Amino acid sequence: MTNNNRSRWDLGRFIQTLTYFEVIPFLNWVQDLIQGRPNSSKNIPDGAKQVGVILVAGATGGVGKRVVKQLLEKGYKVRALVRDIDKARSMLSDEVELVVADITKSETLTPLILANTQAVICCTAVRVQPVEGDNPERAKYYQGIKFYQPEIVGDIPENVEYQGVKNLVESTKKYLHKAGEKLLFDFTKPSTELKNTWGAVDDVVMGGVSQSNIQLVEETALFAGNVSTENSGGFASVRTKNFAPPFNLSGYEGVELLLRGDGKRYKFLLRTETQWDGVAYSYSFNTEANTWMNVRIPFAEMIAVFRAKTLKDSPPIDASKICSFQLMLSKFEYDGELNPKFSPGGFALQVESMKAYGGANLPQFVLVSSAGVTRPGRPGINLDEEPPAVKLNDQLGGILTWKLKGEDSLRESGISYTIIRPCALTEEVGGKEFIFEQGDNIRGKISREDVAKLCVEALQQTKASNVTFEVKEGEKTASSIDWEKLFSQLQSN
Ligand SMILES: NC(=O)c1ccc[n+]([C@@H]2O[C@H](COP(=O)([O-])OP(=O)(O)OC[C@H]3O[C@@H](n4cnc5c(N)ncnc54)[C@H](OP(=O)(O)O)[C@@H]3O)[C@@H](O)[C@H]2O)c1
Repeated sequence: MTNNNRSRWDLGRFIQTLTYFEVIPFLNWVQDLIQGRPNSSKNIPDGAKQVGVILVAGATGGVGKRVVKQLLEKGYKVRALVRDIDKARSMLSDEVELVVADITKSETLTPLILANTQAVICCTAVRVQPVEGDNPERAKYYQGIKFYQPEIVGDIPENVEYQGVKNLVESTKKYLHKAGEKLLFDFTKPSTELKNTWGAVDDVVMGGVSQSNIQLVEETALFAGNVSTENSGGFASVRTKNFAPPFNLSGYEGVELLLRGDGKRYKFLLRTETQWDGVAYSYSFNTEANTWMNVRIPFAEMIAVFRAKTLKDSPPIDASKICSFQLMLSKFEYDGELNPKFSPGGFALQVESMKAYGGANLPQFVLVSSAGVTRPGRPGINLDEEPPAVKLNDQLGGILTWKLKGEDSLRESGISYTIIRPCALTEEVGGKEFIFEQGDNIRGKISREDVAKLCVEALQQTKASNVTFEVKEGEKTASSIDWEKLFSQLQSN
């Protein structure tokens, strides 16, 4: 082929590509200098970042505000469902997304409040306070905790503890991803992330003239362009920058894409090393023109390749360190074979979401209930020994009875859940050992700080799925906690 009949190769695009992916870091530095951009790491995508949010209901309460704080410390994205936004602003970190709703009014539980929820922690409760006019002389003690004659103020237990919890369970159910799934990219939301994370890598890197890009269109990421076989080219792709830290998808079976294609056959690739031109793992899949489909890509079926050459004896994918992802349309399949569905020219692939699937079944709804919920009216109960809420259940609008019905609505929902029934709550600093029980017979106390810790930890424990248990603190301070061992004592419901 002479220079005359070759299409014009674009050096500028070649440099742009390598610069975007920081293969030529020096040029980035020059660009930063010229454009006055701070040389920061904020454009490096973070694979440890949680894409879904944890919705905390009752976030302005004693347990709820501590749950919010501890979730943030662990790097979760937190959305706080509150009734009073000014109160919430005054007590919660600026990092929290605040949404206003009342769980007793299901019409307030809108898509805005529930979309993209990974899990819910519910710490709501009716307000119980000392009877007006009660005074310190009349204070009583239960298990060493001072209390006054209590009364319910505001909404009644049936509405909050039962109907409210049920509303929240039923509304969130529609939005939760299946247990065992982890959202990696949600392209339905406008964000700058796409631009900062994904970039085109076309055959210009090998002398070709194909062209593609990725942009947000119709609440999807649209990978589109033109593949040309001129100049011995023949591929277009979009690839993410390297994630630091990488995605840890160990324990998952693979990646699932929700997409709509054009009838062509594409490749999905991932890398577990940060080298620009190194080993990748690839999987080819067909699309149907103009049809939405879920494409599951099992890690075990991905082929190790260098460019489009298969590598024998490559180790299996180490899913604990996935550095980058790539979508590609290529003339070639592998080892010189042709892509059977390839034709040069325009193409378009719309991706709505990317998630990991086949992971552990983790709890998706943690409900803080109360020890004693099954005790009112239970034969053989000696009320004199029982905590105030059990003794005063009737005077308090059946608070525990309605709490139990709220629990039932969650147990029956099909959502993967953890129901925590703490004994009397204190404002102490926490850090004590946990004592778990089932059967609703224990009495004692536990700090709100430790209950919050338990709620947050449950999100990461498979053995916390579909269990209901009581908890109190032990005498000893806990230096370290073997969470797996603690939760594995529990029987699931
Ligand atoms: N106190 C105890 O000894 C004890 C013992 C065992 C179990 N528990 C249970 O432990 C849980 C946490 O207790 P806590 O002391 O943290 O409770 P809390 O301080 O009274 O907090 C309750 C939270 O629920 C919110 N809330 C109430 N009604 C709501 C509604 N309709 N919609 C949305 N949010 C609503 C409140 O919001 P506002 O700020 O707007 O009022 C507040 O943020 C509760 O379920 C409680 O019953 C308590």
